[in-house]
Amino acid sequence: MVNFAREKRSYAGTEKSACVPGITTTMPELSDAEFTQLSQLVYDHAGIHLPAQKKELVRSRLTKFLRTRKLTSFKEYYRQVLEDSSGLELVNLLDAISTNMTAFWREPKHFEFLGQELLPALRQKCTGTPQWRLWSAGCSSGEEPYTMAMVLLNAIPAKELSGVKIHASDINTQVLNQAQRGIYPMSRVEPLSQEWRRRFFQKGVNQWEGFVRVKPEVKQLVEFFRFNLMDPFPFKDEFDVIFCRNVMIYFEKATQTELIKKFHQCLKPGGYLFIGHSESLCNVNHQFAYVKPTIYRK
Ligand SMILES: C[S@@+](CC[C@H](N)C(=O)[O-])C[C@H]1O[C@@H](n2cnc3c(N)ncnc32)[C@H](O)[C@@H]1O
Repeated sequence: MVNFAREKRSYAGTEKSACVPGITTTMPELSDAEFTQLSQLVYDHAGIHLPAQKKELVRSRLTKFLRTRKLTSFKEYYRQVLEDSSGLELVNLLDAISTNMTAFWREPKHFEFLGQELLPALRQKCTGTPQWRLWSAGCSSGEEPYTMAMVLLNAIPAKELSGVKIHASDINTQVLNQAQRGIYPMSRVEPLSQEWRRRFFQKGVNQWEGFVRVKPEVKQLVEFFRFNLMDPFPFKDEFDVIFCRNVMIYFEKATQTELIKKFHQCLKPGGYLFIGHSESLCNVNHQFAYVKPTIYRK
């Protein structure tokens, strides 16, 4: 049981927005033209496609920026984002727009395959200390790469993992901060067995009652960084395994095709790509061999 010393007590998922009783706040209008401009900006920078049905969602997610900046229209807000040479306004916009739903042990078949088939096979092929590189591309608040780390620790003796790294990236700076802290409300770890909860998490006490923190041996396997998947990849033949799950659903076919090509290039020969269960490479031009539903091999 730990008092997570020095950590400020806040967890983004549990914060409540300030609401002043007696004051009704109206949401500013978002015209079709303003929506088109903003969605084009998001598409140009993050590849995220926002169809017309997302207009209300965009309006509700961005209204806070108009309030805090005392702006009266989305047109003014759009101009402010464009004129901000620091790029921070754009980062904030993308943080607000991206959808970050995730969970520990999400889509269990992938983790079962990783732990029971893929890692034992990699280990058998390995002569010296394993130097594996795994990548959680679009890792959100960290549940996916931390689950990968737990699967690794469960499948391979810890002393053999000194050369193994899970790289975990996302475009959203807020979820990355959460991921880096590795502190979650207790309810988030419910998908994990009681044994794994005990083995891989510390329970918080006092002001951290009701929260858990990933243990250092899990954390040290994961390295978080901000990376926009639309950018050119600086990696080549580097990864043994890539998880890019529930990210491509926000992209159009052409963007997906381009991304799949980049994943192919940065996987080692024989490397594996995992995509989300609601995603498919069916209509995408690619060079991967099919292994199982949503699992592919270079
Ligand atoms: C729904 S979450 C999926 C999280 C995790 N992979 C899972 O399956 O549980 C999608 C993530 O993709 C990220 N994302 C969207 N567009 C991105 C881009 N262009 N580059 C990097 N990450 C992006 C979002 O910020 C979000 O955290």
